Amino acid sequence: MASLSNKMNRKKNIAIFASGNGTNFEALTEACQNGKINATIQLLICDNSQAFVIERAKKRQIPYWAFSAKDYTSKTKYETAICQKLRENNIDLICLAGYMRIVGNTLLNSYKNKILNIHPALLPAFKGTHAIDDAFKFGVKVFGVTVHFIDETVDGGTIVAQRAFEYHGNNRDEVEIKIHEIEYQLYPEAVNSILKKL
Ligand code: GAR
Repeated sequence: MASLSNKMNRKKNIAIFASGNGTNFEALTEACQNGKINATIQLLICDNSQAFVIERAKKRQIPYWAFSAKDYTSKTKYETAICQKLRENNIDLICLAGYMRIVGNTLLNSYKNKILNIHPALLPAFKGTHAIDDAFKFGVKVFGVTVHFIDETVDGGTIVAQRAFEYHGNNRDEVEIKIHEIEYQLYPEAVNSILKKL
C-alpha cells in the first residue's frame, strides 16, 4: 500500500524525443524548471547524435540517449532499446517534440495513451513533415498548432489542445515564428493538463 501511494505521489518523469533544433525541448524544460509544469524532464531521446537539441540537454544537465536507427536491424529493435532506457528512468509521459520518426508498436504498446506530440498545423489538416509549407502554399488564412496523443497513424490520435491564429500576409517566415510562439505556450499547458490525469 505504501509503495502504491509513493508511486501516486511522486513527481512525474517526462522523456522528450527530438531530432533537431530542440526549441520545444527548451520550452518544456524551462517550464519544468520554473514550476509551470509539475514534473521533471528526466531524459532526452534523440535519433541524431549531431542534433543541436543534444547541446541544449547538456547545457541544462538533462541526461540524453542518442541512437542511430541504422545501427539496428529493425524499428522493433531500436524501440526495444528505447523502452529499456525509459523504464530505467521511470518515465511516466513521453513528449515528442520534433521527433521525425514514425513511432512503432513496440513503443505504442508499452506507453499506451502516454505519448504526446506537437504538430505545427490544425490537425487533421496538413499532416506530415512539411505542415507549415503545405498550409502556406494552400493559401489558408487560419493557421495553428495541435497537441495530440499519438496512435499508429501518421499525425493521428486524440487531440488534447489546439490554438489558431489568422494570418493574411504573404511571408512564410512570419507564420513560422508565430507558430513557434504558440507551441512554446501550448505544449507546456497541454502537458500540465495531462499530468493532472495521470
Ligand atoms: C516543431 O515546429 C514541431 O511542431 C514540428 O517540428 C518542429 C520542431 O522544432 N513537428 C512536426 O512537424 C511533427 N510532424 P524544434 O526542434 O525547434 O522543437
